[in-house]
Order: sequence, then C-alpha cells, then structure tokens
Amino acid sequence: MRIEITRPDDWHLHLRDGDAMKSVLPHSARQFARAIVMPNLDPPVTSVDSAAAYRYRILSAIPPGVAFEPLMTLYLTDDTPPDEIRRAVESGFVRGVKLYPSGVTTQSDAGVTALEKCDAALSEMEKLGMPLLAHGEVRDPGVDVFDRESVFIETVLQPLLERHPALRVALEHITTKDAVDFVLSSGENLAATITAHHLLYNRNAIFEGGLRPHRYCLPLPKREIHRAALLGAATSGNPKFMLGTDSAPHGRRLKEADRGCAGCYTAHAALEFYAEAFESVGAIDRLEAFASFNGPDFYRLPRNTAKIALEKNDWTIPKTFSFGENEILIPLRAGEVLHWKRI
Ligand code: NCD
Ligand code: ZN
Repeated sequence: MRIEITRPDDWHLHLRDGDAMKSVLPHSARQFARAIVMPNLDPPVTSVDSAAAYRYRILSAIPPGVAFEPLMTLYLTDDTPPDEIRRAVESGFVRGVKLYPSGVTTQSDAGVTALEKCDAALSEMEKLGMPLLAHGEVRDPGVDVFDRESVFIETVLQPLLERHPALRVALEHITTKDAVDFVLSSGENLAATITAHHLLYNRNAIFEGGLRPHRYCLPLPKREIHRAALLGAATSGNPKFMLGTDSAPHGRRLKEADRGCAGCYTAHAALEFYAEAFESVGAIDRLEAFASFNGPDFYRLPRNTAKIALEKNDWTIPKTFSFGENEILIPLRAGEVLHWKRI
C-alpha cells in the first residue's frame, strides 16, 4: 500500500541549538516543509532580534538541497512589551508567541507567572492576529500532574478567552478529552496541535515492563479514554486539529537520570508514527488534512504544493542517533520495526 499527500508541516518542534540542532534538523527537514520552532532555549528567545539570530543559525544548518522554512516564535514573559509584538508581526518570520506558565516544563522558569501581567501584550496580539501558542498546564504543586491540563483550561484558558475573545490561540500538544471538548466548543480562533506519541500511547506506556524514560514527556499522556478522544479528534477531519510533533530531544544522559528530562524524540519517523495512528482506526485518508492543510489554514499561510509518499514497507528504527559532539539520542521506538516508511 502506498499513499501520496501534500508535503506536511510541523506546528510544534524543538530544534535546540548549536551542534545538537545540526544533528536533529535533517530529520525534520526530510519530512516537513516548515516548522513552528519553539523558543525555549537557554537563554529563551524573548525578542525579535534573538529570533532573527536563531533563525539564521537554523537556516545555516539546513542540509544543502533541502527546502525547509523555520517559522519562529517569541517566548512570552511577564514583561514582553506590546511593541515587541508589533515588531514580531512586522518581521514576517515570527509566527507565534509561546506561553510557558512559569515552571511547567523544560526551560520555562522565565515564563509567565500570571497571565494578567501580559495583558497589554495579549491585547496587541489580539488586535494584530498574532497567535498565542499555549503550553496548557498549571504548575501548582497541589494539582495532580495528570490534572494539570484540565485545570489550566478551566482556570487560565477560559478566563483568557473571555478577556480576549478574538485572541487566536493554539492549545499545544493536547492530551485530554477535556481539551478536545473545549476546543470543539470554542470559536474558530482556538485550535490545537496533537503529537504522534499522544495518539499512540496512553500513560501505561511510560511504565511498560519498567520505567521508560524515553517515553516520558510533558504534558504526560493520560488514560486510554483520553488517547482515544485525541485519535478521534485528529482523524475527525475537523480543521481545528493539526499536526505538531513536540519532538523534544535530550541527550541520553539527561533522560536516563535521576530527575530525567521530559521530552520524546520523534522527528526521525514523525510522519510514519502519525500514519500508524491514523491507520489503526481506518482513517489514513484523513491524514493529509491533519498534516498538511489544517495548520497552514490556522496560521493563515499558503498550503504546500509539493507531494510526498509513504508506503507500507517494514524498516527498523536505529537504536541511537548522535546528538551534538558527545551525546547520544535515543529515538522513540529505538530498534523497533515500523510498517510505514516515507519514500
Ligand atoms: C519539551 C522540551 O524538552 O523542550 N519537553 C516535553 O516534554 N514536551 C518542552 C515542552 O514542550 O513541554
Ligand atoms: Zn514542546
């Protein structure tokens, strides 16, 4: 079996920087024409100038002959000036502003402590149509880690959309039925990205046969009913749901450690993972809209015109990839056989 689809884009990607970026970028560029690049570097990308410099470093690392366009994001802080939002819109290469509630995930300490503090910047985004890309979790230690997304929706997102009804929001890497339902019941200005790993795995996967650090990511995968709801949403044909891998590489030593880092590396076979998930419910014909149409439509960018093909042909994922000079990356499904292959 073989399918041909319009070349897809990745609407949520961590490319990192320096030599580590050089190791992972070819994997994404092989499959995706464009990617929304996350700004959670150290230090974070909080200004248009630093986004321009980061974009230049990415462009310089793209393998020769490969067409790939990084779409940049700014990291929202308590004091992002409204002027910076205007500059971002004018730049033409910044396509979103990322909300990390302070402390929720990797490199989020400089994130927002209270969204009310960002009201002027958010008003400017609402006025100019600049999307807010939300890591939708609260960090309150009193909230169970598996409830952090649903509590975010109730206590942060809903009030935000009441204060800024025209703000365009992409709720990133959704993991719950609550998020699916909220997105479905909201206006056109709210969309969501869904990762391949949240379509394929529920929370049991993190503990299957022992603790599995390479399956550990944030937001955590949830119960099976939630995974099923995500798969239902992604394959429904509803344009509010779009592909965002959240491929988040960390070197092996940082993953296989006490207080190991969160993040699944999926860029090496992202499209194949999505194909597997869609096929599992007989919806491979819905993959193209999710992967190649819904994202550009939400971001008001042209759809790609080139085509790519996938075929059913078993292959084995490498056990490791190099990651910068002295590190190793363990990809999702390392050493296992996949049925779909990008050709
Ligand atoms: C991401 C990372 O490592 O940067 N980790 C993850 O588990 N997804 C951060 C994020 O998107 O939460
Ligand atoms: Zn992410």
